[in-house]
Amino acid sequence: MKHKLKEKFIKIFEYSPTHSQIYFSPGRVNLIGEHIDYNGGLVFPAAIDLGTYGIVEARADMIFKFYSLNFQDDGIITVDKNHLLYEEKHRWANYAKGIISELILRNFPITHGFDLLVYGTLPTASGLSSSASLELLTAWICNEMFNLNLSREYLALLSQHVENQYMGMHCGIMDQLVIAKGVKGRALLMNTATLETTPVPASFSGFEWVIMNTNYPRKTTDSKYNERRRECKLALDIIKEHKNINYLCELNEGELRKLKKYFSDIKIYNRAKHAVTEQMRTIQSKTAMENHDPITFANLLNQSHESLKNDYEVTGLELDTLVDSARKYGAIGARVTGAGFGGCAIALVPKTAVESFHQRVGDDYFSQTGIKASFHDVTFVDGVDIYVD
Ligand code: GLA
Repeated sequence: MKHKLKEKFIKIFEYSPTHSQIYFSPGRVNLIGEHIDYNGGLVFPAAIDLGTYGIVEARADMIFKFYSLNFQDDGIITVDKNHLLYEEKHRWANYAKGIISELILRNFPITHGFDLLVYGTLPTASGLSSSASLELLTAWICNEMFNLNLSREYLALLSQHVENQYMGMHCGIMDQLVIAKGVKGRALLMNTATLETTPVPASFSGFEWVIMNTNYPRKTTDSKYNERRRECKLALDIIKEHKNINYLCELNEGELRKLKKYFSDIKIYNRAKHAVTEQMRTIQSKTAMENHDPITFANLLNQSHESLKNDYEVTGLELDTLVDSARKYGAIGARVTGAGFGGCAIALVPKTAVESFHQRVGDDYFSQTGIKASFHDVTFVDGVDIYVD
């Protein structure tokens, strides 16, 4: 990888970088605890070995140049320090620009520009956080290059701020925080109210995690996602008139049920119901993991999917079909992972069934949707850092 990226850098920028440091920023998969990282909930993501690689060289001037091997038609995107506002035509590079722009706004000493070449192995728009991966890659590079000494947590919060304010996607903190703080071979139990993270071994002996991509393009994800956030805020405002809480996930199901009479719109009630029940499922999944109990964990995965389908309404035909096929052909549990509306699902599959699983699930899904699914075997890795071959 090192060699390949350096060669590409020389070809694109027409000079040899003085040092050939490569950085790697992972993507993420979320095992359980979906759509509650903006409701003060407990979530359970892991950083994965698919992600974004970057090679960078400092410039003597105030110009920033960006090139992606994934979007070669966009060519080199060039901006100077005084023109870092969001521009639609800069597409993917806006994530990197947003980070630099925010650091400058916060008065950090960004004293010169740089040339950055990136290469991503995450399928785009798949719900595995290619955008947060690029944000953290840029934030990490700036932290190192300009000796900012910012903590991983700070870089995650900065990246979330950029995603919210600069890109207009009102995500929670899960993706950025796990990409910053991931731990090899572990998932992170993350309390999104306190930002506390606990690395936990997240495997069951005899079983494998399989990531399944619907390959269904997620077109309106951002607007639908922001709509769900607004709906949760509405539910919280209704509840706050009767109960003193800061987050939906502070309630248990019984407490929420007692408040049902104050909801005139059942849809808004159901959004809150998902948040509250998903929080319980994540807590129970922690115990199942501690007890080495894959069956209970898998049941919780299945319940999570049903709740995201019926109460939260973020799945859709492709995801539901793929999850059903997975359960039919050997998975003991399966569910959507990430924001939903297309993208990926995960399945917990007995090792003995994995070999035929891809083929059989793929065929079944294709016969129902006409789309070819893809499957990714991933390992859980450390957060963003220098890449070591
Ligand atoms: C996206 C967001 C996260 C989280 C998930 C759903 O990945 O970026 O903050 O809300 O959706 O759990």
